[in-house]
Formats: sequence, C-alpha cells, structure tokens
Amino acid sequence: MPGVYRLAFTAPEIARTVQPGQFVHLRVGSTHDPLLRRPFGVHDVDRECGTVSILFQVVGRGTAILAEVRPGGVLDVLGPLGRGFTLPAPALPVALVAGGLGIAPLAFLLRRLAAAGIKGSLFQGARTAGLLLGAEETVPGFKRRLATDDGTAGHRGSVVDLFTASLVAGYRYAYVYAAGPYPMLRALATRMREYRLEGEVSLEERMACGLGACLCCSTGVQSDSGTGYARVCADGPVFPVREVAWS
Ligand code: FES
Repeated sequence: MPGVYRLAFTAPEIARTVQPGQFVHLRVGSTHDPLLRRPFGVHDVDRECGTVSILFQVVGRGTAILAEVRPGGVLDVLGPLGRGFTLPAPALPVALVAGGLGIAPLAFLLRRLAAAGIKGSLFQGARTAGLLLGAEETVPGFKRRLATDDGTAGHRGSVVDLFTASLVAGYRYAYVYAAGPYPMLRALATRMREYRLEGEVSLEERMACGLGACLCCSTGVQSDSGTGYARVCADGPVFPVREVAWS
C-alpha cells in the first residue's frame, strides 16, 4: 500500500512474551532528533525466528525516518508494553472490527484466536479497496467481511454500519474486539451499548515516556464509582468498551 510499511525486527525476548494488543516503543533514529519514541502496536510475531513485526503509515518525520531503515539496521526498541486484549474461552463466536490500520494489532489477535480454536467474524473497513490490508488472507474459523467508503470492495459504507447490519440480521457475538480511528470506535461503542455487547477497544494516543510516568497519554474513563483518567500506555492501550468515557 502506498505510504504503508511492514517492518520486522529481531527481538526474541519480545517475540516470546508479547500478547496481542501490546505495543513496542521505538526510537526512530540514532540521534536524539526526533527526541520522542513512537508507539506501534505489534502486528505479528514469529517465535521460532524471534522476530516482531509492526505496520505503520508515514505521517511525519519520525515515521519517514523509520521507513528508511534497511536490512541489517539496528533499532532501539522497548517492549512489550501496555495491556493487551483479553482472550475469551474457546468456542465463543467473537467479532473483530477493524478500521484502516486498526487491522495491524487485530491481525495478530486474529491469528492467536484462530490458533486457540476460537471462531467468529472479522469486519474490516477502509476508504477504498486498495487500502484493505491483508484482505485476501484466510484465517481458519473466521469469516472476513469487507466495507469500503467508495464501494470498491464489499459493503459500501462504514465498517460499523456493516457490523450493525449483521446484528440486525440476527448474528450475535460473545465478545467484540476493535481497533481503528477514534470516531469509528465511538460509533461502534454506541452500537454495542444498544445491543448490550461486551468487548474491548485498542485506543491510540500520543505518547512520550510510554511507561506510565508522564501522564501525557491520559484518556477519560468511567466506572460505577464515577469518571476519571487512565494512561493509555500503561493502563491500556486496550480498554473494556464500557470503561471508555467517549468524548
Ligand atoms: Fe507517559 Fe503514557 S506516555 S504516561
């Protein structure tokens, strides 16, 4: 895909322990400019080879520098960090809802769920067919449903509309996992509340330390006892949908 890169690096310890939904924090250059590390959800691991993959889109100077990394290059990587997705008991039908590059962390989760014998549906949306990453990949036990804004593949419209249509048609899911742009996740959370569905979302937020110390990644959360703030890097990036105080 234009402007989107898949980067695999050797990090056996991370590959051995990382869970779907967790992230790595990368220093993108060998100097202190740019100063801040960048967080990337883990897209895939190969435990035998000890490799970890991320997917990223070039959106600024940091990711542009990262796109220039060549085989044999050395990266400074912290991880695995954060709280990942909860795996349900096997055999429950689950739904995964991915918008845009939200497919990056969900693809890792999808493979883990399938390996555990869990079945369900993957709803994947993008602006246009050429941006539906991995759409041709088949995963045992999972049906892939596609949506594009321009109708060039699958349902014409949003992935949340496609997911809602399946609920209207009578499909039910024991658990929903989602990742993608914030407005999409907020719309999905509304539908899930209407249909009393439980699940988790992976939130994206600008980060600095990535370790829970600086509080720059705070997001609103809610519980029976009221509202407050949580750190996306340390308390998330995965949160139960009902705990997010959507803005
Ligand atoms: Fe510092 Fe999350 S990035 S607390």
